[in-house]
Amino acid sequence: MKIILAENSGFCFGVKKAIDSAYETVNNKKNNVYSLGPLIHNKQVIEQLKSKGLKTIENIDDVKNGKVIIRSHGVPLNIYDKTKENNIELIDSTCPFVRKVQKKANEYYNKGYQIVIIGDKEHPEVIGINGWCNNSAYIVNSMEDIKKIPLLNKLCIVAQTTITEEKFEKLSKEIVKKAKESKIFNTICNATQLRQESCKKVAQKVDAMIVIGGFHSSNTQKLVKISKKYCPNTYHIETIKDLPLEDFKKYQTVGITAGASTPDWIIKEVIDIMSNFNNHNENMNSMLNSLSD
Ligand code: F3S
Repeated sequence: MKIILAENSGFCFGVKKAIDSAYETVNNKKNNVYSLGPLIHNKQVIEQLKSKGLKTIENIDDVKNGKVIIRSHGVPLNIYDKTKENNIELIDSTCPFVRKVQKKANEYYNKGYQIVIIGDKEHPEVIGINGWCNNSAYIVNSMEDIKKIPLLNKLCIVAQTTITEEKFEKLSKEIVKKAKESKIFNTICNATQLRQESCKKVAQKVDAMIVIGGFHSSNTQKLVKISKKYCPNTYHIETIKDLPLEDFKKYQTVGITAGASTPDWIIKEVIDIMSNFNNHNENMNSMLNSLSD
C-alpha cells in the first residue's frame, strides 16, 4: 500500500506554539496552571494535559493562585485588566495572526469607525476580537446578518482568521454599501486554506483518505467535506483506533491528512500502522492493542 501524507496537515503555527508552551508550563509547574477555555479541539491532547495538572476554567474569577494560559484564539481586552488587578500571571498564547485582528479592531474603534467582524458570533476568537472594540461590533456570518447594519459614516471590516476567502469576498462586497467610508482588512490566516488545498490535492489521487482530527473540530470537518468531494472513501478518525482496518485491504493508495488541532504523535501512530499494513495485515489487532490509550 502506498501512503501519501498531505503536505500541509496537523498543528498550525499558532496552535503548536500554544500547546508547546502549555506542556512546558505544566511540566515546570510549582503552582496551579489554568487554561481559560479548552486549549484546543482535541480530546486526546486535553486529556493528556489534564493528567499533568492543567485545569480548564471558563471564568477568570475562578483562578486561585496560579498561572493562566490564554489560548491561541485570544481573549477580550478586559481580561488583561482583570488579571493585572488580581495579580494573576498570564502565559499569553494568543496567535500573532489573531493579535493582528484584535489590534486592528481596537485601532479603528478608537478612530471612530464601526467595526464589523465577518465570522461566527459564538466562536471564542470572534468573542475575543469584539472585546477589543468595547463589544460594539456587528458580527456578520450571512447576507441576512448584513440587513441589521444601519447606514453609517465609517466602518471597518475584519475577519475571523479561519473563514474562507469566498465568504470574505462575498460578504465584504455587500457590507461596504452600508457606509460612506470603509476600511477593509482581510485578516484570514492562510494555514486553513493551505490545509484545504493540500487535502484536495491528495484526495484527487488516492483510493481512500484518512482525515485525522476531533469529531467536533470545525476545521477537521471541513477537510472531511473537501476530501469526500474528491474521494468517496474518506474516513474521519480521532485516533487509529477508530479506523476500520478491514476496509483497507482493498485499497492500493491511501492519503492522510489532519486538522489544525491534531498533534504529531496521533498522526505518526496512523502513519506507522498504515505503512506496515501489508506486512502486518494479519497481526493488526495485536498491533492496535499494543498502542497506548
Ligand atoms: Fe493562528 Fe492561523 Fe492557526 S490564526 S491559530 S496560525 S489557523
